[in-house]
Amino acid sequence: MALWGGRFTQAADQRFKQLNDSLHFDYRLAEQDIMSSVAWSKALVTVKVLTEAEQQRLEQALGVIMAEVQSDPSAIVNSDAEDIHSWLEQKLIDKVGDLGKKLHTGRSRNDQVATDLKLWCKQQVSQLHHGIVHLQQVLVETAEAHQDAVMPGYTHLQRAQPVTFAHWCLAYVEMLARDASRLQDTLKRLDVSPLGSGALAGTAYPIDREQLAGWLGFASATSNSLDSVSDRDHVLELLFNAAISMVHLSRFAEDIIFFNSGEAAFVELSDRVTSGSSLMPQKKNPDALELIRGKCGRVQGALTGMMMTLKGLPLAYNKDMQEDKEGLFDALDTWMDCLQMAALVLDGIQVKRLRCKEAAEQGYANATELADYLVAKGVPFREAHHIVGEAVMEAIRQGKALEALPLADLQKFSMVIGDDVSPILALQSCLDKRAAKGGVAPQQVAAAIAATKQRLV
Ligand code: ARG
Repeated sequence: MALWGGRFTQAADQRFKQLNDSLHFDYRLAEQDIMSSVAWSKALVTVKVLTEAEQQRLEQALGVIMAEVQSDPSAIVNSDAEDIHSWLEQKLIDKVGDLGKKLHTGRSRNDQVATDLKLWCKQQVSQLHHGIVHLQQVLVETAEAHQDAVMPGYTHLQRAQPVTFAHWCLAYVEMLARDASRLQDTLKRLDVSPLGSGALAGTAYPIDREQLAGWLGFASATSNSLDSVSDRDHVLELLFNAAISMVHLSRFAEDIIFFNSGEAAFVELSDRVTSGSSLMPQKKNPDALELIRGKCGRVQGALTGMMMTLKGLPLAYNKDMQEDKEGLFDALDTWMDCLQMAALVLDGIQVKRLRCKEAAEQGYANATELADYLVAKGVPFREAHHIVGEAVMEAIRQGKALEALPLADLQKFSMVIGDDVSPILALQSCLDKRAAKGGVAPQQVAAAIAATKQRLV
């Protein structure tokens, strides 16, 4: 039976019920609904709605339901209840009879669902934080093992300057560090309890809401009841957190998909994260990474969807807000899955060092070095840039690398070039020179690895 039957004479149309019911997704809030119900029962004792003995009986029954839910969460969805709150109330009444009907005194599903969802979000923040840190750890380990793996760095997908695979890994560590810090930031704002805000105007019982918030592990209680039941900023913020981090993961995926292509062939992916083609026997496809890249789309969609759902909504609670859950659940599940999948991909990756080095040596990735060499000899940079451009054109014409051009050919473009130029053009020197903070020089990368490891413990 619905919670609100008294004022109705007709049963709900089956199609309306199907549209209106949320149990098939909000069953995931069962544990939070039980926790907030226990806290609420304690608050009802303080205002003498329940006796100590009644509260204990309710708490004990809620504990039994919790154990049942934990052992078989799927049992909930087979019920005909409208949502998780109706389900729990009915379940409690089944267990303790009329006493169960007292629990809803002074509260509304509006403050209840707001509280449950915030409790759930807090738990997710902690799990996602672990997921991010784990991926960062795997990235740092991969970096550590590949400090000498030189490969071309790209801009515009054109070979630009040599980098190392380690330096590439550390770039993603930084992105993930920002994702983690954004999560912590979101947590600070969401850690405020709406319970005791009633339907919209506050509860009519003189409950100490700060104490109630503390029982639930919140830092404090919200300050305005209208805002409390209509606020879904935390949903938006978490979706934004997921959206931006998924953008990072999609770029990670795209980079490796390219590294793994036949054309680049810088890495080989493990069989554990690739699949074959039903037709072409030679294929080994980077599906795990393509799925990370592809799933980024649905997470952006969830963020946009929720923004639009909330746009222009009048205060306070409106049923539109029930739409907050499916997108959020799916986006956070997807984000977590992709964090784990990215770690798994790295775990089995094989970097083909020789091939990477060969590629780094091609494509005139040391042209900037020649320009810097000219600058050191007193040529203004803009002029040096032009001279090297001409030298590169000549090298392309001869089908050679810059360092393979005879000195006499180089001197056609500038007489200041001497035979001291050849060590400057060596790959290692390109790396060594970039020793300012954040650069690719081996000692900078080693320092970044050490600093990150310290940060992650
Ligand atoms: N299932 C609802 C939701 O998720 C719970 C709140 C219902 N409140 C109401 N006034 N009908 O939003």
